[in-house]
Amino acid sequence: MTQTMTEPAPAPAHVPPELVRDFTFQSLPGAAEDPMLAVADALRDGPPMVYVRNLRFEGYNAWVAARYEIIREAYQNPELFSSQSITSFSGLLDESWPFLPIETDPPEHSIWRTLLNPLFAPKRMKAVEADIKATAEKLVSAILAKGEAEFVDDFSAVFPIMIFLSLMGLPFAQAAKFLEWENGVLHSRDLDVRKRSAFAIRDYLVGAIEAKKVNPADDVISYVLTTPVDGRAITDQEALSVCFMLFVAGLDTVTAALGFMFKHLAENPGHQQQLRDHPEQIGEAVEEYLRAYPIVTSFRLITRDVVFHGVQLKAGERIALSLPLAGRDGEAFANPDVVDFSREKLDHISFAAGPHRCLGSHLARRELRVALEEWLTRVPPFRVKPGERPETHAQGVFGVDYLPLVW
Ligand code: HEM
Repeated sequence: MTQTMTEPAPAPAHVPPELVRDFTFQSLPGAAEDPMLAVADALRDGPPMVYVRNLRFEGYNAWVAARYEIIREAYQNPELFSSQSITSFSGLLDESWPFLPIETDPPEHSIWRTLLNPLFAPKRMKAVEADIKATAEKLVSAILAKGEAEFVDDFSAVFPIMIFLSLMGLPFAQAAKFLEWENGVLHSRDLDVRKRSAFAIRDYLVGAIEAKKVNPADDVISYVLTTPVDGRAITDQEALSVCFMLFVAGLDTVTAALGFMFKHLAENPGHQQQLRDHPEQIGEAVEEYLRAYPIVTSFRLITRDVVFHGVQLKAGERIALSLPLAGRDGEAFANPDVVDFSREKLDHISFAAGPHRCLGSHLARRELRVALEEWLTRVPPFRVKPGERPETHAQGVFGVDYLPLVW
């Protein structure tokens, strides 16, 4: 296993030495080719709970739950595993307020989900299907005209941004700027770039919120501004927090899920042909790809000393709920590394479980399905461009950085 550069600080005395590991997900062998497999291979056959030093960055140690059942249980127990201060976004803005709803615990959390759930309910998402389809059609037409594609630049990064701008009621002209800020805040290793991007997003959203106050329309921002929360008006800071959260939660995730799905299809012509021959299996294929390629690792703050699955946890420590370890757990899914569209029981938790279960799952599923339908209907059998290698990362939300395709 790859060691981090500097010698890690000793683990606390209550952590059994045999449970201590030293790595970041990115440093694991194979992470640049198949991050889910790399993480699973490193942990799934070992103890159910391990303590990883410098997991997220230098000095950020965390317990890692290495089984589907434990991960699910932890998501469902917010009283023991709190969501407070789990992201770094507020800090990037030199603020300390929580990101809504993700950094709140029940019962406060339910106030925010009550506000937001109707916006992303299945019925409402059905209504935006035509918009999603028109966007996919437009992007695929441009790709066909070009004759080949770099999937990330030409499709998976742009597609969710266009849908997001449309839902939020923001102009498409902003798409390139949004992409730059999104990459800056989520992927840059340079703290200055991350901060500058966070401030740029904030400034833009603050302007948009002010404009919607004057000219409300039928869009997410106007809804958030005009719908009471817990019987009162939302504050400007809360509205900003909600909109910022939707920006960071709804773009990169879809880009990443699309990337892994299309990478697999490009490398497995048999699977691609199966879906071309049986488009009625596309819905099951989306679920199986979500199961096999979970992209999110959530963090939680441990609220009190407790023995959890035989391990002493202390208040103030953190735990990582890394969903690749759930999706690739052989006790939960037979032959977990095999993509099989005909799995009978597909109780994956790639959108998490419990109160914070993904708000945008219905939107995400629709985007993934429409993208598959559009590509498989219009683009001839595609494969990775000969002589080139796709690139992936295991930092933050796992993702695909480069996927050159030809047909
Ligand atoms: C394939 C794409 C997606 C995946 C795999 C995904 C996964 C997740 C996961 C695992 C969580 C739980 C995080 C935690 O509790 O720590 C989450 C929460 C969330 N997601 Fe998604 N997501 C996706 C797309 C979207 C989209 C398109 C939106 C846009 C609306 C969105 C909005 C949110 C929000 C707002 C939360 C926080 C919910 C809460 O705290 O109650 N997600 N997502």
